[in-house]
This record gives sequence, C-alpha cells and structure tokens, in this order.
Amino acid sequence: MTSGSVQTKGIAETFDDLAHDRCCKYKSNGLTASSQVLLDFISNKGLVGKTVLEIGCGTGFFSLETLRHGASSCLGVDLSSAAIHEANEFAKESGLQNRARFDVADAASTRQPASDVVVMDKVLCCYPDAEALLKTASDSSRELLGFVVPRDEGLMKPAMRIGTALINLVEKLRKTGFRLYLHPLISIDELLAGSGFQQEKKAKSRFWLVFLYKRNRPDASRG
Ligand SMILES: C[S@@+](CC[C@H](N)C(=O)[O-])C[C@H]1O[C@@H](n2cnc3c(N)ncnc32)[C@H](O)[C@@H]1O
Repeated sequence: MTSGSVQTKGIAETFDDLAHDRCCKYKSNGLTASSQVLLDFISNKGLVGKTVLEIGCGTGFFSLETLRHGASSCLGVDLSSAAIHEANEFAKESGLQNRARFDVADAASTRQPASDVVVMDKVLCCYPDAEALLKTASDSSRELLGFVVPRDEGLMKPAMRIGTALINLVEKLRKTGFRLYLHPLISIDELLAGSGFQQEKKAKSRFWLVFLYKRNRPDASRG
C-alpha cells in the first residue's frame, strides 16, 4: 500500500465514523452558516438547469440542496463509503434519486465529469494535496467553482494555526489517519488563476472563508 492510499484510508475511516451523525445534524439544523453562504453564492449566479459536481460531498445534503434550488442533476463523490451510503439513502428519502448520484472516489487521483458548477465544502482542509484536488475541480468546472476553507487570515490566523496544531496533536495521539491542513490562500488563488479562473466573491463566516471563482474563458473548459 502506498503512503497516499494509507492517507486516504485514514481520512475515509474518520468520515465513515462521522457519517450518520453528520447526516442527522443536517436533518435537525439544516446547512451550516458557511455552507448556506456557498449555496447563496452559486444560486444567485443561477443554478436553474445547471449540472453540479460536489467533491467531498460527505452525506450529500449540499448537493441535494442544489437540486432543490433548480440544478438539473448532481454528482457527489467522497472517500467515505459510509457517507456515500447515507447520501444515496437521503436522495431516495427526498425523492431526488433520479437527479442525484453519489459515488465513492478519490477526487485527487481520478478525473470527474465536466459540470457547470463544482463545489468543495470544507474539503481542501481535510486533504494534504490541495493542488491535486484543485486540478480535478478546475478541470471539471465549466463555469463556477465554489469552496469553503478555514479562516486562515488576518486576526484569525494565529488562533487558526494554534487550533489546527492542537487538533492534529490529538489526532496523532489517537493514532487516526486524519489531519487538518491550512493550505496557503495565495497558492490556491494562483493555482486557480493559472487554470483560467478568477475570484468573483468571498465571504467570512465564523471560522470559515467562502470563495466563488468563475471561469474566465468558458471555451477553455473540458467537455
Ligand atoms: C469536513 S468533511 C465535509 C463534508 C461535506 N462537504 C460537508 O460540508 O458536510 C470533508 C469530506 O471530504 C472528503 N474528502 C477528503 N479528501 C477527499 C478526496 N481526495 N476525494 C474525495 N473526498 C475527499 C472526506 O471524506 C470528507 O467526507
């Protein structure tokens, strides 16, 4: 087994354990504030009739919300098979199974279908290779790319760094394969600019930053 597959196994196991609780939490409380901002960003741009790819979809509730806001279809992919199971069950429960598909996949190492809108809600911070995830996301997006990352800037930066170090220490002591990553925002922006995207919107939400990027040259997209 390569170190990459050990890493993805550790991430998958962590989110397998959390899948049921995360789904129940959404059913009781709805979207978190940062996810709601991301949904508002993309729906204000016009979701009606659009195809959506969600990378790191977890139990799929964000993808299903995009369908409720008019998206024609969604595909969600995640490392966690338990989360994907919950997502498919939730799609059936919601009567949206004909427009929703959820698959287990490592989006850092597999290409994903071209879609109008691509989202990654609190996913980059759970994976060591941001560049690989951003490549899949930007290659797949025809129009919009939205994501949520930790608020690692300004006055929040020291607290975020200390909090992340403490969480990672606990995870190390618990011998889990899960770690939090604070990928430099400037590198994310540079990578996306190099792939033909420009920042359209940004918002702060407690511990999170929500970004919306737009493709500069729609004709440059794949598919
Ligand atoms: C913090 S959870 C967020 C889940 C969901 N987006 C939400 O907001 O509830 C991060 C998710 O990203 C997934 N993930 C991390 N790296 C991934 C990768 N390389 N490919 C697919 N999914 C990945 C994890 O399995 C996990 O379900």
